Amino acid sequence: MVSIKSICIKLLMLLPLSNIWVSRDFDFFYFVQQWPGSFCDTKKSCCFPLTGKPVANFSIHGLWPNFNDGSYPSSCNIAENPFNQSQIIDLVPRAEKSWASLSCAGGSKKENKTNSDNERFWKHEWDKHGTCSYSVLDEHAYFEAALNLKDQFDLLQILQNNGIKPDGNLYSIVNISEAIEQAIGFQPGITCNRDALGNRQLNEIYLCVDKSASNFIECPILPKSGKSCTGFVEFPIF
Ligand SMILES: *[C@@H]1O[C@H](CO)[C@@H](O)[C@H](O)[C@H]1NC(C)=O
Ligand SMILES: *[C@@H]1O[C@H](CO)[C@@H](O)[C@H](O)[C@H]1NC(C)=O
Ligand SMILES: *[C@@H]1O[C@H](CO)[C@@H](O)[C@H](O)[C@H]1NC(C)=O
Ligand SMILES: *[C@@H]1O[C@H](CO)[C@@H](O)[C@H](O)[C@H]1NC(C)=O
Repeated sequence: MVSIKSICIKLLMLLPLSNIWVSRDFDFFYFVQQWPGSFCDTKKSCCFPLTGKPVANFSIHGLWPNFNDGSYPSSCNIAENPFNQSQIIDLVPRAEKSWASLSCAGGSKKENKTNSDNERFWKHEWDKHGTCSYSVLDEHAYFEAALNLKDQFDLLQILQNNGIKPDGNLYSIVNISEAIEQAIGFQPGITCNRDALGNRQLNEIYLCVDKSASNFIECPILPKSGKSCTGFVEFPIF
């Protein structure tokens, strides 16, 4: 019976629209880290958590289940697996350091700018992404895996060892990519955004991780970095 069921599932997966009937499991994770300086110097600007300004370091954006074709599942079974902050209470000190929110909780309008809300950020990441890897990781395991991944490599130090510093100067995307590839063994994905003046800048670094969320792997597919992420880009001060 089990094997008939699994054959049926495999057959359904061959159909292009199978997603409507069978929710596929994911293939790998993107582990995405952002440079806080590039989040904060945009037109929208940013807010800090009540714990204060985060350290000038790469910071976790999220651990995102992804498919090999580049698409990704999102917001899976939120009702069955709701975010519960008390499940990760022991991880909060680490998350406050490595996974801080910079989004203004009261909106980005000047008069309402107050603080960011870490708990809201973590809930959003869990709801949108974490719930889709629930077959592999429960909430505690998911957050712990992301925090452990961050500590495996010190991206900022890797770049600084190659003369690439967050000093507002321009650096070559190829150099940034090669520095990380040399240190980690795998080519990263890099995305850029624009500061308030419209200058292109280094925004996020994508690394790929296997389904156990513990080993870095070669990316099955790199995220689209776009035309703005070529040549030389700014690495802003934070
Ligand atoms: C959240 O988790 C705690 C600790 O495991 C548990 O006692 C509590 O019932 C949970 N709350 C909800 C709303 O599920
Ligand atoms: C600021 O926040 C208050 C209270 O949440 C809200 O009523 C108001 O519309 C907000 N103003 C703007 C400009 O967003
Ligand atoms: C930046 O993060 C890495 C990885 O977690 C850590 O090893 C390093 O000590 C941090 N650097 C600073 C300046 O906080
Ligand atoms: C790349 O980095 C090296 C140092 O690691 C530096 O000598 C070289 O000038 C850089 N090249 C570009 C194009 O920035």
